[in-house]
Amino acid sequence: MGISKKMHEFATASSWIRKMFEEGAKLKKQFGAENVFDFSLGNPDIAPPPQFDAVLRRIAADNSAGVHSYMPNSGYPFVREAVAGQISQEQAMPVGADDILMTCGAAGALNVVLKAILNPGEEVIILAPFFVEYKFYIDNQGGKSVVAPTRDDFSLDLAAIEGAITERTKAIIINSPNNPTGQIYPEQDLKALGSLLTACQQKFGSTIFLLSDEPYRKIIFDGHQVPSIFQSYPNSIVVSSYSKDLSLPGERIGYIAVQPDITEKSALLAAMTLANRILGFVNAPALMQRVVAELQGVTVDTSIYARRRQTFCDILSAAGLSFTPPKGAFYIFPRTPIADDVQFVAHLQKYKILAVPGRGFGLPGHIRLAFCVDDQLIARSATAFKQAMDTLGEA
Ligand SMILES: Cc1ncc(COP(=O)(O)O)c(C=O)c1O
Repeated sequence: MGISKKMHEFATASSWIRKMFEEGAKLKKQFGAENVFDFSLGNPDIAPPPQFDAVLRRIAADNSAGVHSYMPNSGYPFVREAVAGQISQEQAMPVGADDILMTCGAAGALNVVLKAILNPGEEVIILAPFFVEYKFYIDNQGGKSVVAPTRDDFSLDLAAIEGAITERTKAIIINSPNNPTGQIYPEQDLKALGSLLTACQQKFGSTIFLLSDEPYRKIIFDGHQVPSIFQSYPNSIVVSSYSKDLSLPGERIGYIAVQPDITEKSALLAAMTLANRILGFVNAPALMQRVVAELQGVTVDTSIYARRRQTFCDILSAAGLSFTPPKGAFYIFPRTPIADDVQFVAHLQKYKILAVPGRGFGLPGHIRLAFCVDDQLIARSATAFKQAMDTLGEA
């Protein structure tokens, strides 16, 4: 085999979403895209806000020498300054331009941070259910994933996290609002996590970083707030992007923000800047950096997601599915009415509903439904869900 054994294994392990994509393509060809209820992909369908268009056109029209040149690997200083202003508000703490590094999306940011901090074999704790790419990113940078469960309502299980921490633990990744559950960790839980990590650092004489993956921070419902991670723990790092809140996932623009009092800050920032370069990103895209600098605080119309979330929750409840309503992001993670999530997903497909089995996120017995699809499609899925649930005994 030409490709590496590891990549072959990874391709098999990550096949769920791809499998759904392929099944979906088949169904859409057969029945027409408008007749397939495809809730399998977390790809924002809302257009970027109008301000994006205006800023992009103006900035793209500038063809002066140097606008497309290399730059410092951490990004343009004026862009980092603009991002720092926004992060200072979100984290309720003054953050400087030097605490920011521009990246190729949150995915690039996670790889940069992990490359900068991991020695071979060091452990990174992730919480099930998790964004499946975490395992690959941790492996990319020579680390070992350690999975800890969350509670039934997907809140932090501090006892489980404590049980997973060893002297080899280098970091824990949390994601709030969460993909795939839509849950947000409240301030008191984050403070308790911060205290636990501080105690563990003391116990093991080690440094444990808290990586907070926050690309859904601005997509929140019912007045929920995403608390500051920087206030909860000094060794914390935010990774995020404009993929979801500006609907720009294809443009690969994101950032890293470090807590201003983080351990060995200048060495860490230098290591991350070098990692950005030698991972082959070199720097975040120049044009997009200049665009997002002018769009701090601007988001897509999140009321669209809020409306869909309400419709979808009503439909799923009426069909008899049980779930913890999402507080943010654009996913619902219902429990499956039969134990086998793969079997349930196959059953849903008979009604042209596409979902991803929970085991793809490290938690069987659930499915993930993404509601970044048209309102009409969600509304029309009501009958299909009802029929699927009513015929479950015949499955
Ligand atoms: C939880 C989570 N983290 C990170 C990412 C990667 O985002 P980006 O497109 O900014 O790399 C995603 C994308 O879906 C995600 O859901």
